[in-house]
Amino acid sequence: MRILVTGGAGYIGSVTARTLLDAGHEVVVLDDLRSGHRAAVPEGAAFELGDVADRRLVADVFDRHRVGAVVHFAASSLVGESMERPHAYFANNAVASLRLLEAAHAAGVDRFVLSSTAAVYGTPDRVPIPESAEVRPESVYGASKAMTEQALDWLATTAGLGWCALRYFNAAGATERHGEDHRPETHLLPLVLEVAEGRREKIRIFGDDWPTPDGTPVRDYVHVQDLADAHVRAVEAIRPGTGAAYNVGTGRGASVQEVVDACRAATGRNVPTEVAPRRAGDPAELVADPSRIGAELDWTPRRSELREIVESAWAWRRAHPDGYPPA
Ligand code: UFG
Repeated sequence: MRILVTGGAGYIGSVTARTLLDAGHEVVVLDDLRSGHRAAVPEGAAFELGDVADRRLVADVFDRHRVGAVVHFAASSLVGESMERPHAYFANNAVASLRLLEAAHAAGVDRFVLSSTAAVYGTPDRVPIPESAEVRPESVYGASKAMTEQALDWLATTAGLGWCALRYFNAAGATERHGEDHRPETHLLPLVLEVAEGRREKIRIFGDDWPTPDGTPVRDYVHVQDLADAHVRAVEAIRPGTGAAYNVGTGRGASVQEVVDACRAATGRNVPTEVAPRRAGDPAELVADPSRIGAELDWTPRRSELREIVESAWAWRRAHPDGYPPA
């Protein structure tokens, strides 16, 4: 199948594009490089520079490449920033996705995979979180993804769309060729590794008085390669007129303190920490119940032990100390 991967120059998008190619698919990457890296686009993928909200460009891409499916990553994805720039987040995520869906429909493309997020659940009533938990986001980011999921569901019944929304928990880790290179970086693991490298003085732990075993927040870290594999399974399984949302996580949580300790062990370096105030909008604990994706897509995490996640991320940083080269 020929697959359009929007945001295929980004962290999860580039690993997924590589994995789709390895699975025998053809890949067209569409990315405006506002946060992605040209060097992250895998060899063998066609590359189109542009914004998914650009109707004319997207129609032209569908027309020229004759794609059969879309895997849609291109989005703004920082919870905190979404509260400061709500219009931009609704525009980049919800509105742009709807434009892309409209263009896909006009081109007769009826398979669509959406990058969604655990942030659609807000603070859950219980963990692990099943997909049947109420969708009640507490951030504009989470809301923008929930809105897009809702549109997908309606488009299945009204326009025959086949869709899948993958609700990621905490993507982390690296492959040999692809790693995490956000500018600025806000995610825990790469920040801790920057401390280990000596590029950053210390890691601030946002609260140590949470209702968790060691007092620091618990997240479900899933290796980026496992996430990419979930996309391949999802796009291959989609059937027109039906859709589903799946949690992509391991079902196991790790605390901020455990991540710091795993980084100390993997790097053999000193990692100074400092307890800082809680970060607004952070829930205490987010852990997936991944049984639906296991049962329906036969997906199971293979590389998501915390140690392997941290070691892979560290290996990538050692090989690419300045991240991806400039375009
Ligand atoms: N943290 C720190 N110090 C830091 C950075 C993070 O203590 O310098 C803590 C956070 O408080 C949180 C944990 O580390 O408890 C993980 O934080 P990240 O910023 O790495 O990730 P989030 O869990 O906040 O966000 C991730 C994804 C979002 C997604 C969200 C779902 O990056 O896209 O999970 O809630 F929306």
